[in-house]
Amino acid sequence: MTSSVPSVPTSRPALDGGVRRPAPHELLGLTSPAYGGDYNPEQWDEATFAEDLELMAEAGVNLVSLGIFSWARLEPREGSYELDWLVEIVGRLHDAGIAVDLATATASPPAWMATDHPESLPMSADGVRLGLGSRQQYCPSSTVYRERSAALAEVLAERLGDHPGVVMWHIGNEYGCHTAECFCPACARAFRAWLTDRYGDVERLNAAWGTDFWSQRYTSLEQVCPPAAMPTFHNPAQLLDWRRFSDHQLRSLIEAEARILRAHSSLPVTTNFMGDFPATDYWRWAESLDIISDDSYPNPADAAAAHEVAWAGDLMRGLADGRPWILMEQAPGAVQWRRRNSPKRPGQFLLWSLARVAHGADGVLQFQWRQSRQGAETFHSGMVPHAGRAGRTWDEVVATGRALKRLGPVLGE
Ligand code: GAL
Repeated sequence: MTSSVPSVPTSRPALDGGVRRPAPHELLGLTSPAYGGDYNPEQWDEATFAEDLELMAEAGVNLVSLGIFSWARLEPREGSYELDWLVEIVGRLHDAGIAVDLATATASPPAWMATDHPESLPMSADGVRLGLGSRQQYCPSSTVYRERSAALAEVLAERLGDHPGVVMWHIGNEYGCHTAECFCPACARAFRAWLTDRYGDVERLNAAWGTDFWSQRYTSLEQVCPPAAMPTFHNPAQLLDWRRFSDHQLRSLIEAEARILRAHSSLPVTTNFMGDFPATDYWRWAESLDIISDDSYPNPADAAAAHEVAWAGDLMRGLADGRPWILMEQAPGAVQWRRRNSPKRPGQFLLWSLARVAHGADGVLQFQWRQSRQGAETFHSGMVPHAGRAGRTWDEVVATGRALKRLGPVLGE
């Protein structure tokens, strides 16, 4: 891969006469599948960064996702930005021939947003405000979250949008993974506005939702609430509209960031999908994205895991209009979040990586480059495990990098 940014190829007609979506390898100038992972150098010291560059060269890493959870470092106080460290890291990676998929860093707001704007925190269906100290603690309708995330995307795009080391934008991270729905008052207001747009007046909503059943008839749209905790079964039409609305709120966040990025930069834009995640309408989301990318964590101990690899790959190729896509995350070994976290068996990392390429992936990236030494995912595997070069994970990471490097000829096939 060259880490200078090629111009975006113009769309060519697809076989069915529609517009042909350029493939990631065309957009990124890849000569073999991209290989790398989430990279969080702000969690490490300078000596480790220097070692990372060496190890990345050994493993054949050519693309890393940077800044996904860096908001607190980039905007430590509201409106005050510290980007120099990130610019330096992008520059040093670029000098080492490693391109950057730059995150807008809006997946996890900093502490000040929760403490100074507590209404920005999401609310569960039981009316509990979810707290700070984990991740993704924002309400998708929150004005302050929307303003601050837009401002951060703009600052990053202005500062790094034409840096030769940055080759693509990574908006947020796994939207809806933990908080696909928020039941706070701001979301209730936004839901009513969405329903007003959809139905115009309350009688049309009553007819569509069948509210004569169980005396649910409304006399004003102002009476309608999100389907929060209730005595028994929800009205299914209300639930369906709520899910459409919740999908719309998340999608509108992506669209807002994509608009800002495109105003400042010509780089392709992605956000990482989660397979057939039921809370989201990825078919509509795909319309706003230049590159379709997926995170995929089949259970290595599940005999049917190969089906999931195949299904997710085909789904992504469908979402990409039959064109290639990128595997944005997989685990090099075990995850940490199952009741039992089986490691991948010898050869399984290579097998599943090649399977993704066979299903149209132009890149194979992992969560994450270096296994954490602290935090909630300390025992989730990394390309560089706690044991470093010792042990089979590293050998398999290097072998997979070598195998992918030889696959240039199959890109786009
Ligand atoms: C994904 C997420 C990553 C990491 C990974 C491993 O869902 O995007 O940030 O948490 O799972 O658990």
